[in-house]
Amino acid sequence: MFMYVFSIGLIVAANILYSHNGGIIISNNLLKKTKTERKTRATRRNCFGRSVILEESTMKEEKTLNHLMAAFAGEAQANRKYLAYAKKAEAEGKHNVAKLFRVTAEAETIHALKEFELAGKVGSTSENLQAAIDGETYEFKEMYPEFFSVAEEEGNKAAARAFKFALEAEEVHAKLFQEALDNLEETEEVFYYLCPVCGNIERSIPEKCFICQVPGEKFIKY
Ligand SMILES: [Fe+2]
Ligand SMILES: [Fe+2]
Repeated sequence: MFMYVFSIGLIVAANILYSHNGGIIISNNLLKKTKTERKTRATRRNCFGRSVILEESTMKEEKTLNHLMAAFAGEAQANRKYLAYAKKAEAEGKHNVAKLFRVTAEAETIHALKEFELAGKVGSTSENLQAAIDGETYEFKEMYPEFFSVAEEEGNKAAARAFKFALEAEEVHAKLFQEALDNLEETEEVFYYLCPVCGNIERSIPEKCFICQVPGEKFIKY
């Protein structure tokens, strides 16, 4: 806490110094700069010990990493939320509002992808496949079983059904990612078929979805 207050003090002092030296009043623009950027300025323009500044700098970078992931989570959620709102607006005949939600959803995706990348979360394709396997496995082995049983206990049948569908589909996703990882050098084109109801994915069109029983002709080809 002391270090944080101290660093804010340094930043303010450095900015005031800057405004005096350069004859520039502190502008909104300057205030909007990230703490890391301001720290760089403070390093250049004050006479405090260098080791203290470096320690502070490391702390800020770690905070920024957390901020990147928090921003990514928020933007990713906003993207899906706006698509749900667009669908609703479309159903109500509000086509312009639907369009605004869709274009903004895309904008949030641009933010989310940049933040995720800057957080260093995009690895090689084999690393990414492994990360996907881990995530899907956690979901179908731990997260959804727990969510499903709580929904059943609470008598929320719709939620229990949605969790059950997701649980079973995530297991399929994990298997497909594993298959892709095992055949990473394979170049022959592969096709996937998505169930639009439960999120199951098949390698060929089934007669009906083994999870939600939707007829095969409803599946979407990728
Ligand atoms: Fe999944
Ligand atoms: Fe399905």
